[in-house]
Amino acid sequence: SGSSSKTSSLPSILLAGPSGAGKTALLTLFEKRAGRSISTSTNEKTEPAKTHTSQTPVSIKLNAAASPSSTSDDQPTKKKPFLLIDTPGHPKLRSTALSHLLPLDPKTGRPLPPSKSQPIKGVIFLLDASTLSPSSPDSSLSQAATYLYDLLLALQHRYSRYTKGSKHPPSIPVLIAANKLDLFTALPATLVKKELEAELGRIRVSRSKGLLDSGVKEEDDLMGNSKEEGDDWLGEYGSERFEFRQMVEFDIEVEVMGGSVLGGEEDGPGCEGWWSYGEDGR
Ligand code: GTP
Ligand code: MG
Repeated sequence: SGSSSKTSSLPSILLAGPSGAGKTALLTLFEKRAGRSISTSTNEKTEPAKTHTSQTPVSIKLNAAASPSSTSDDQPTKKKPFLLIDTPGHPKLRSTALSHLLPLDPKTGRPLPPSKSQPIKGVIFLLDASTLSPSSPDSSLSQAATYLYDLLLALQHRYSRYTKGSKHPPSIPVLIAANKLDLFTALPATLVKKELEAELGRIRVSRSKGLLDSGVKEEDDLMGNSKEEGDDWLGEYGSERFEFRQMVEFDIEVEVMGGSVLGGEEDGPGCEGWWSYGEDGR
C-alpha cells in the first residue's frame, strides 16, 4: 500500500516474546491510546484487543506525542513517531522477529547486512510473568528463556559479524517487559530477572555440551559454515554464571521492567514505562 512506503524509514521497535505474552494486546492498546494513525497492517479493520495467535507480523506507526501519560492533547513535542512491529511468538515463526535483527540470505544462510530502510532502534521482549515461576504448574520459564537466548545471541552475532573496519553496527537495547503483573501469581521484575538469568545460564551450558556431543561442529565444517569456538555461547565466554550485564561487552543494554497491558491503574502498574522506552528510541 502507499502508506507502507511512508513508514518504512521510521525508527522501529521490535515487539518479540513467546506466544501468549500479550504482544498483540500491547500493540492494540498503544494503537488505541495513540489514536489511529497509519497502519501497515494486513488487517485493516480496527478491532479491540483481538487475542488469537499471531501468524503474520503487523506494524503500526505511533505518534510519540500521544503518550498515554501526557496531560494535554496538543502538547508540542520534538519526539519522532516510530513503528512498532508485532511478531508471532510461536516457536516455528520466531525467525520473523530474529530476521529483523540478523537478516540471513534465504539461499545461502549467510548473514546479510542489517536493513537501512527499517532501522531497529530497540527490542521489547514481552513475557507472561504470571506463569514464569519455575514452580508454577505449567511454567513458561523454559520457553521464554529459550527464545530470549536466541534473540540475545542474534544481537551478539550482529555486533561481531557486521563490523565495518573497527566499527560495529548501532546498538539495539533490549527491554524485557514482564507483563501481567495484575495477576497475583506474577513475579516482580527483580525475580523475573533472576529466574531468567539462571535459566539462560543453564541453556548456555547445555548448548555447549550438546554441540560437543552431537558432532554438529564437524558437520558444520563440512558444510562450509565453520563455527567458531564459543559461537553459541551467550555473554562472557567461560563465565560460570550468566548475567544480563555481560551483554554490555557486545554493546547490548538489557533492562527488565514490570507492567501490565490489561487491568486499570488499581489492578496493575500499566505500561507507561514501556511506552516511554519506545518513545525515547533509546
Ligand atoms: P502470539 O501472537 O501467539 O505470539 O501471542 P501474543 O503475545 O500476541 O499474546 P496476545 O496479545 O494474543 O495475548 C494473550 C492473552 O493474554 C490474551 O488473552 C490477553 O488478553 C492476555 N493478556 C495480555 N496482557 C495481559 C495482562 O496484562 N494481564 C492479563 N491478565 N492478561 C493479559
Ligand atoms: Mg500476537
